[in-house]
Order: sequence, then structure tokens, then C-alpha cells
Amino acid sequence: MINLPFSPFARRNFVVEPLSAADCPHLHQIHVQTFRHAWSEEDFYALLGQETAFGFIARQEGRPGSAAGFVLARLVVDEAEILTIAVPPAFQKQGVGRALMDAALRHLHGQRARTLFLEVDQANVAAQALYRRLGFAKVGDRAAYYETGEGRSAALILRRDLGSDQAPDQDPDRK
Ligand SMILES: CC(C)(COP(=O)(O)OP(=O)(O)OC[C@H]1O[C@@H](n2cnc3c(N)ncnc32)[C@H](O)[C@@H]1OP(=O)(O)O)[C@@H](O)C(=O)NCCC(=O)NCCS
Repeated sequence: MINLPFSPFARRNFVVEPLSAADCPHLHQIHVQTFRHAWSEEDFYALLGQETAFGFIARQEGRPGSAAGFVLARLVVDEAEILTIAVPPAFQKQGVGRALMDAALRHLHGQRARTLFLEVDQANVAAQALYRRLGFAKVGDRAAYYETGEGRSAALILRRDLGSDQAPDQDPDRK
């Protein structure tokens, strides 16, 4: 179990743990609450079954079966990708997303990964705020990639270089 720093304004305490297959029903339920096209339980079982996949789940302190958000990622050789990250509305804006990304970055630092990529909807203000705080920069886009219900929206491709000499704890802009 990793105890990670959360915002001093957090209303609840959370712990972050590595994801396991037993979490897949939770992951699906969180996706249903946070995405227009949720991934199924089977999708998550298949992804987590891949050797290259890893992730973390946030739980409410003292509630081991709870799920307050998760991040799922993949590392191939030294290049990593965030596959998905989601925090249910009830737990948003309390530092959970940041703590999950910090856990992923720490893991990747330990694995000596060099680069982390992700894709984000250009209309997704919350996610872009989180990624900007973590030092991601835009390196490309895919026009009309996401279906929003009111048309199509572009995907921004973001990258963060993971220098082996800079652990996440040493981020210069960390609060
Ligand atoms: C994106 C998401 C994971 C953020 O999780 P969260 O737990 O609410 O984020 P945090 O509380 O850790 O906030 C992280 C940073 O983002 C900012 N942020 C979070 N939500 C925001 C919002 N709605 N508007 C503006 N900024 C926001 C916070 O202010 C914080 O910045 P700070 O460090 O400067 O204070 C969450 O909103 C979510 O699950 N959204 C739906 C699914 C999704 O869009 N996933 C990402 C797909 S690419």
C-alpha cells in the first residue's frame, strides 16, 4: 500500500494500491460513471491480463473494498502510455487523480521508463489541468477523434519525458 500526499483541502483520506484483476468490476463501474463509452468488465480483465499493463486504484482509508478512482497504463520497453484514468464524480477535485498519476510516475521511474504518452479530449478541461500540472506537453493531435454527442472532438496527444535522474517527488512545480 502506498500512502500518497493529497491536497490539504481533501475532505476524505485515500490510499493508493496496485490494481489487481479482482478490481475489474469496480473499474467498469467507475467508467460507467465517467465516460460516454464505458469499457466492459471483460475489457478490463483482458487489459490487466497483459504483461505490459499496470495500474493503481485509490480506496477510501479504512474501506479496503472501496474504489475512489484508478489509473491503467502500459509500459513497453521504455515507452509508457496511460490507457485510462477515472475518478467518480463523488471523489473528484480531492487530489485523487493527482495521487494516481503520481503513483504511475513513481512506478515508471522505478522501471526506468523514458517517455509517457496519453491522449485527451481537447474539450476535457479537468483532465488537461491535471496533466499540465504534471508537466505533460502537447506533441500532436487527431482531428475528430472522440464522439461527444454534439459532434466530434479532437484528441490531443500529450507527452512527458521521464528523465531517470528526476523522480516524481522532485518535480520542480510540485505543490
Ligand atoms: C480528470 C480526472 C481524472 C481528474 O481527477 P481529480 O481527482 O478530480 O483531479 P485532482 O483533484 O487530483 O486535480 C488535479 C488537478 O486538476 C485540476 N482539476 C481537476 N478537476 C478540474 C476541473 N473540473 N476544472 C479545472 N481543473 C480541474 C485540479 O485543480 C488540480 O490542479 P492543481 O494541482 O493545480 O490543484 C477526473 O476529473 C475524471 O475522472 N474525469 C472523468 C474521466 C476523464 O476525463 N478521464 C481522463 C481522460 S484523458
